[in-house]
Amino acid sequence: MLRASAPAKIILSGEHAVVHGYPALAVPFSTLRATVTAEPDKNFSIVFSDHSGEPLSASDTENPLVTLAHSLGRTTQRPLPARKFIIRSDIPVASGLGSGASLATALARSILLNMDQQISDEKLNSLIYEVEKVFHGNPSGIDNTVIVYEKPVYFIRNHPMQLLSVPVPFHLLIADTGVKAPTFESVGDVGRLLERDTQTTTTILTRIGHIVQEIREKIEAGMPAQIGALMNENHALLRELTVSSSALDSLVDAALNAGALGAKLSGGGRGGNMIALVTPDTSQDVELALQSAGAVRIWHTLIGNESAL
Ligand code: PMV
Repeated sequence: MLRASAPAKIILSGEHAVVHGYPALAVPFSTLRATVTAEPDKNFSIVFSDHSGEPLSASDTENPLVTLAHSLGRTTQRPLPARKFIIRSDIPVASGLGSGASLATALARSILLNMDQQISDEKLNSLIYEVEKVFHGNPSGIDNTVIVYEKPVYFIRNHPMQLLSVPVPFHLLIADTGVKAPTFESVGDVGRLLERDTQTTTTILTRIGHIVQEIREKIEAGMPAQIGALMNENHALLRELTVSSSALDSLVDAALNAGALGAKLSGGGRGGNMIALVTPDTSQDVELALQSAGAVRIWHTLIGNESAL
């Protein structure tokens, strides 16, 4: 059976600031994936294996996934295949892990496979960005970029992405608050903060941009253990932007108290996930501390190796 998939993603640093033109760093989280399979059928349709959404047909043109399918048809000049596309995803929705972009990317790849067509990653990325705009309102484009290329990236809005090289892999724990992250709302609120209190907010966003540069330098120089303090500072600045929450702060504090080298929220915030930088020696203690502090799910991954542990 033809199967296509796409990973989740983790923002290491720069979320929210990236919407306003500052850089950010993101890595694919390949353990969690959206997968799409296709079965021969009379017509084109899209269904969700967990019944989380209504089945979609080619005439549901208001739906961004159907719009994506039609865009692929126009781009390749092929009719939509008579198949039932079945979407499965391990990625928790609205949790800062890029579930929307991942699902759309896996679907696009499956449709292309079933049309026996290929398009460039660059073109695919621009089509997934259109879907992201419907889901998110004012997305920077970082989610679709890291997910389509499935590589660590240094990203600035409206600029060609650059690959982030990770010569020395590092361990992250990712912990889910279990609370949905209202990214649309939090992105809007940071925008309004920037309008209302331009000077202070610009100072915060500028510092986040510098933190991103410093983290990039340390990672690329093979010194990932040194990004911990920068992650902590990034988290404090995100709190000032009002996008943290008591659940996220509790997980960050628990991770640091248990020996994590650094911790911060990841993604849109006010819910969703946080990340903690750990070593093989501290990982277990930090994981237990995160569990006690209320994390509903915890994953362990090695960044720079693309393989989960
Ligand atoms: O989709 P999320 O929750 O990972 O948020 C993406 C990161 C933001 O910077 C908050 C938004 C964006 O479009 O870059």
